[in-house]
Amino acid sequence: MRKPLSRAVGFATLALALAGCQQPAETSASQVSQQTNNVTVPDYWPQISFDTANRAEVEKRVDVLLQDMTLEQKVAQLMQPEIRDITVEDMRRYGFGSYLNGGGSFPGGDKQASMQDWVDLAQSMYEASVDDSLDGTTIPTMWGTDAVHGHNNVIGATLFPHNIGLGAMNDAELIKRIATATAKEVRATGIDWIFAPTVATARDDRWGRTYESYSEDPEIVGTYARAIVSGLQGDISDGNIDDEHVISTVKHFIGDGGTNNGDDQGNNLADEESLFKIHGQGYVQGLNAGSQSVMASFNSWQGDKIHGNKYLLTHVLKEKMGFDGFVVGDWNGHGQIEGCTNESCPQALNAGLDVYMVPTGAWKPLLENTIAQVKSGEISTERLNDAVRRVLRVKVRVGLFDLPSPANRSLSANADLIGAPEHREIAREAVRKSLVMLKNQNNLLPLSPNQRVLVAGDGADNIGKQAGGWSITWQGTGNQNSDFPGGTSIYQGIERVVSANGGSTELAVDGTFSERPDVAIVVFGENPYAEGNGDISNLEYQRGDKQDVALLRSLREQGIPVVAVFITGRPLWVNPEINASDAFVVAWLPGSEGQGVADVLFTKANGEVQYPMHGKLSFSWPASPTQTVNKGDGQTPLFPYGFGLSYGEEDPMDEALSEQASAGDVLTTHPVFVRSIQKPWQIVVEHKDGQQTMNSNTLNAKAVAIRTTDRNVQEDALAIDWHDTANVSFGANFPEDLRDFDNDHAALIMDVKYAQTESQVSLLMACGDNCGATIPLADYAQSSTQWQTVTIPTQCFSKKGMNFAEVFTVLELKAGADTQLTVSDIRLVPNAKDLPECVH
Ligand code: BGC
Ligand code: BGC
Repeated sequence: MRKPLSRAVGFATLALALAGCQQPAETSASQVSQQTNNVTVPDYWPQISFDTANRAEVEKRVDVLLQDMTLEQKVAQLMQPEIRDITVEDMRRYGFGSYLNGGGSFPGGDKQASMQDWVDLAQSMYEASVDDSLDGTTIPTMWGTDAVHGHNNVIGATLFPHNIGLGAMNDAELIKRIATATAKEVRATGIDWIFAPTVATARDDRWGRTYESYSEDPEIVGTYARAIVSGLQGDISDGNIDDEHVISTVKHFIGDGGTNNGDDQGNNLADEESLFKIHGQGYVQGLNAGSQSVMASFNSWQGDKIHGNKYLLTHVLKEKMGFDGFVVGDWNGHGQIEGCTNESCPQALNAGLDVYMVPTGAWKPLLENTIAQVKSGEISTERLNDAVRRVLRVKVRVGLFDLPSPANRSLSANADLIGAPEHREIAREAVRKSLVMLKNQNNLLPLSPNQRVLVAGDGADNIGKQAGGWSITWQGTGNQNSDFPGGTSIYQGIERVVSANGGSTELAVDGTFSERPDVAIVVFGENPYAEGNGDISNLEYQRGDKQDVALLRSLREQGIPVVAVFITGRPLWVNPEINASDAFVVAWLPGSEGQGVADVLFTKANGEVQYPMHGKLSFSWPASPTQTVNKGDGQTPLFPYGFGLSYGEEDPMDEALSEQASAGDVLTTHPVFVRSIQKPWQIVVEHKDGQQTMNSNTLNAKAVAIRTTDRNVQEDALAIDWHDTANVSFGANFPEDLRDFDNDHAALIMDVKYAQTESQVSLLMACGDNCGATIPLADYAQSSTQWQTVTIPTQCFSKKGMNFAEVFTVLELKAGADTQLTVSDIRLVPNAKDLPECVH
């Protein structure tokens, strides 16, 4: 019953037809420049200071290259397809300017691909790009990758702590060493370019990408941006990136960390000056350090998608700030601009995007459409040439025209570099410095290693969990310790230090021990996630089933002192867990070097501190699940920005923290289709002949026609007309945790209107393969053709096997030929009134 919605991309052509493909009025170059002249950009956007000595020489080289290029060759420089969707032969035929591997995408689709496999692919793509037999050009291509915490798609690479942990160490010098080591590991695989650093200033911790942010404070973000760009690219004041360094990308421009409600890819409502002050500092500093690329963000600013925002991309970034590298898009982000599809989007190029990141099969139509749009004048030759010039300029700077092919570069295939001991040492140092201690009653920490130590919790011996998202796989899920050869789990680190000093350890995830321990260390926390899949509605840790607090309490009740080690991508409301621990340490997402945790938790054999407890919060810690709190905003957090206890310091926490804020108090309605389809849900039609996603206000599939229609306000209802048996589902690509609605008061409520009272419609909720529950609509609806509100207790689904922890399909409507139904206001309600009894 699980719906693999990703198949829906196959219906791109349909989406293209549906979207109507309006083009902007902007056509001639003179119009463009006139508009430019009319725009005033406020002076707080500074001119960046990066410049190079060899500018004239570089431009001359680019001029020569540009002179000989055909339109097709130029447009190809602006296309960035993904390795799963192109072959080496496509590269030979089209000569793409660049290509990428997405998160969890490997050469040959092999998760265990070796360093040599990576280099071989880089070499083949390069050779095909410089082969002019089919496309007539010898311009080398370049490969971009998400090395966001080390070279994280590669087995055996060093995985550094995620950015949130790095923020807590507040050490820009160490950041630079991390970046330098990352650049080397990336170069060892033949890759030239990294999509990092993320310089988001996350202001709402419900955002699933909070852990990719160094801090809620733009100052740390700015300082780090400068350090990391310098480490990745090296010193480029002479205008060259050498072969031990890579091109960096400051992303995602701009405002990704400030969207409303922390929605991934959502809308940032800040005024312009706040956009600059809070979300712009990483760009100012990263570009001052010479970052050669900027990635456009998925989010909108005041309702407009950044990918299509000419003011920000062109007038602010390029003209006012003077950025002379290129702007790359994000994962078909251009397709989200109004009037665009993944396959056609002159708006993005016209707004100032230079390189389309175009994974999936969309690259080919996009390439063809873009060529046609230049021919027709929808895209001016001037804009095209400017975009190509930017790409070529960076290629010259990174030495692509002078370096040997990837396999023959100085660091390529150097087996000593991937997961090098000296890189792991840097990562371990970062782990040590990133730990933040929130509680330490009676100075329980640091621990003497000469004791009997129980290590419990599902994070104890779990490198995948401690590494988080963007670790081998995109979401960071589905990994085992063996997928991190050379790494250590937190438990392994503890075991080493304890056994080396005459103590003993016992590992028991559930806390059941065979010999009574002197102390217990419980390692628990968030499971891996990436991007929007990590968005949450409030900050309470483990809503519903509080297993970890139960584990902590059970050990405490047996008189065992308890140290909590919390793995997390963000501050969460953990008052019950803090109360149930004697000491509480936040480890964030430490990456592959779990040993760094034990380095700090334990003293030397003689009782002296080995390493200090160093980290300080770079994010305010919330006092309740619903508090959105930031430094200096006048609110009182539980622990303020900058908090972190040191060893020996007296712990000021003398009272038990309030455990009042239960989920029930803060829970609001979960909308599914209320005025329009609500994230993360998508409307998908499934019929025996295939599947289609509804991307606009009508969908005309063979078996079903759906259109939005007006009930109370415009387009707030869906009229569904079945011509054949089919399912219309409201599904998500990733499971939603809706356990908050799995209780006696909650209901699925929707308004429906039958066309014929005798219609047979069944309702399904699904939680994965062969998991779900079906209920006939007629059991809860009246036999009437008037609008009516149908209320179904969620317990009626649970009783039939629905698991609300993993909801893939929140509702599916199934009917046969000649059925018509109009629905609106589909939602889950936490405290519904007048709940009916379950019918069966
Ligand atoms: C992310 C980017 C990433 C890109 C390529 C996108 O979804 O937003 O941060 O660089 O995918 O994997
Ligand atoms: C892909 C990842 C990619 C991500 C970006 C996913 O669908 O599998 O490789 O990084 O999208 O959003």
